[in-house]
Amino acid sequence: MADIDVLVTGGRLYLDGEIFEASLCVSDGVITHVTTTPGTLSADETVELDGELVLPGLVDGHVHFREPGYEQKEGAASGTAAAAAGGVTTVVEMPNTTPPVLDREGFREKRELFESKSHVDFALFGAITAENLDTGAIAALAEEGATAFKTFMATSFGPLLMDDKGELYRAFEEVAETGRPIYIHAEDQEYLTEFTRRANELGEDLDAFFASRPPVVERTAIADVIEIVRETGAETVVAHVTTAEGLEMIAKARAEGLPIRSEVTSYHLRVDESRLRDVGTRGIGTPPVRTAANREALWQHFENDQVDLLGSDHAPHTLDEKDREPLAVAPGMPQLETALGALLDAVHAGRTTLPAVVRRYAERPARVHGLYPRKGTLQVGADADFVVVDPEREWTVDATAFESEGKYSPFDGWQFTGMPVEVYQRGRKIAEELETLNEPGDGTWVH
Ligand code: DOR
Ligand code: ZN
Repeated sequence: MADIDVLVTGGRLYLDGEIFEASLCVSDGVITHVTTTPGTLSADETVELDGELVLPGLVDGHVHFREPGYEQKEGAASGTAAAAAGGVTTVVEMPNTTPPVLDREGFREKRELFESKSHVDFALFGAITAENLDTGAIAALAEEGATAFKTFMATSFGPLLMDDKGELYRAFEEVAETGRPIYIHAEDQEYLTEFTRRANELGEDLDAFFASRPPVVERTAIADVIEIVRETGAETVVAHVTTAEGLEMIAKARAEGLPIRSEVTSYHLRVDESRLRDVGTRGIGTPPVRTAANREALWQHFENDQVDLLGSDHAPHTLDEKDREPLAVAPGMPQLETALGALLDAVHAGRTTLPAVVRRYAERPARVHGLYPRKGTLQVGADADFVVVDPEREWTVDATAFESEGKYSPFDGWQFTGMPVEVYQRGRKIAEELETLNEPGDGTWVH
């Protein structure tokens, strides 16, 4: 019998912010040693690398897979296959499905569905709306294993909305009792209604979309959230922050000691208004991408550590729902198969560093969802989930080849430098060259 199951040698390992030439030893799906002298160990299987990077499997704390209820957009199997292809070995799935995840039963049903279909390890969000407030459901969802909660202050997609600030306040009070975090979609519904009314006059031009959700809609919502966090102490993540001012407000509140964090998407870091005008309505997500100057400021804040988390906000809709006039488009799009590539490409261009990306797209999401150090790190004792990255590999995004049901992307046709070439979950290869190899149901529930 061999000493270990899998030996990964010849690579450069990312370990707690530094990169080492070292080997990884795996037994029973867990990292048992990280060593520079693997010579004496025998392994059942050896992964021989040629100087590629070995990163922790990414932990995407914000994805929408649409099942149950909207299987025509995406499914648990296709969505998690997209995750595997993109180097994301753990996903945390959002609850704005139909029915939404509002109680124990809904949570169990979704968990069982994903246990039979998921290609990667998964955790699940619970939802909060006026319907399940004050019913004991929030505590029950936390007990069931929801790693976080989600609520929407404004209409985006799906049946969840909490546009009453009193109710929102009560939601944060209830969540604070559970010790789990709440992710909030921060746009102010009353301003959104007003600006949408005005935007309707702009007709079919893409400007109508930008006019319907100007930055003030986000900034005012973030200001309210900060005050609610100040009073309730609820652990909070402001999802997909798009404005530089929003990031500054959150960073300031965090520096004052409030338990609030910002999440930014790779989409908002790489795409801006001018690119969206080229892509058209298929590239619409909410909140919107902003000006080039704002995007530049997002990157500066990323470098100043005023961006706490990265998430993809993978959120496909059908092409029928995308090819509409701007104000009628379903917001969101496939992101999982481009997120890491878009970020590696930014690293290659000198825009940011690899540790800055891994911290925000693996370590910190794992911590926020209570999955660290089992996930998000290559430490001894962690699950052997890792991505082999060739930082010099050039590739062209081809959305028609996506594992996701959504075969379109604002990045379609972009050339990226830096590619996830192989992806391993608990020591087993699950994807190679952007193609998923394993079976639905191989993923396990984590919480
Ligand atoms: O663009 C978006 N799509 N933003 C959201 O907040 C929701 C998401 C979805 O579920 O489609
Ligand atoms: Zn989302």
